[in-house]
Amino acid sequence: MKIFLDSGNLEEVKKVKNLGVLKGITTNPTLIAKEKINGRKDFLNHIKNMCDISQVPVSAEIVSLELNSIIEEGEELHSIHPNVVVKIPLNESGLQAIHYFQQKNIATNATVIFSPLQGMLAAINGADYVSPYIGRLDDIGHNGLGQTKKLITIFNNYQFKSEIIAASVKTIFQIINLSELGVHIVTLPYTLIMEMLYHPLTDIGIEKFLKDWRSVEQPNEK
Ligand code: E4P
Repeated sequence: MKIFLDSGNLEEVKKVKNLGVLKGITTNPTLIAKEKINGRKDFLNHIKNMCDISQVPVSAEIVSLELNSIIEEGEELHSIHPNVVVKIPLNESGLQAIHYFQQKNIATNATVIFSPLQGMLAAINGADYVSPYIGRLDDIGHNGLGQTKKLITIFNNYQFKSEIIAASVKTIFQIINLSELGVHIVTLPYTLIMEMLYHPLTDIGIEKFLKDWRSVEQPNEK
C-alpha cells in the first residue's frame, strides 16, 4: 500500500518526507485555506514548493466549474512542476476535463467520489488516480469501505490503469480495513500517519530495555 499525505502544510510535508514513507501528496481548497497564502500567485508558488520538497506526485485541486476554465486552470497548475497532478471533482465538466487531460498526457486525480459508478466513469476516461471518500460516507451512516470494495472489484474486472486513493480517512481502523481490501493508496492527514507509528507498549518496551541496559553498562564505558 502506498501512503500519501493529505495536507497543504510544508512542515508536515518535510516531516513525512523524512520518515521515508511518502509516495504522494493530496491537497484541497480547505487544506490550502488553513495556510497563510495570499492569492493565486502565492498558491502556485506554494504548490511548487510542495513538489520541490517532496519529489513525489502532488495533487492540486482546481476550483473552476466550467470546462474551459477547468482546462485553463489545470494547464496552469501542470505548468508549474512536472509532478503536479490536476485534481478534479467528478461532475459533468470534471469528467470531460479528465478525458481532455488524458489526451494531453497530463495526470489527473478524480476526486469527491462517493459511488463506484462515479469511480468507474473516471477510470474509463483515463484518470490516473480515483479518490473515493471513505470517512464522509461513514459519517452519514453509509458504508465507505463497502463502496471502496466494489470499486476495487470493478477495477480488477476491467484492468483499469487508474490507482485508487482511499480519501477522507479518519481512523486507524479504516486504514487497517482498507489495507486488508488491498486498496492501492491511502491519503492521510499527518496526525493519522503518526498514529500509525505509535503504540503505548512500544514506548514502555523501549523504556524497559534502556533501564535494563543500564545494569549491564559499566559507568566508564561511554
Ligand atoms: C482527498 O484527496 C481529500 O483531500 C481529503 O481526503 C478529504 O478529506 P476530508 O473529508 O477530511 O475533508
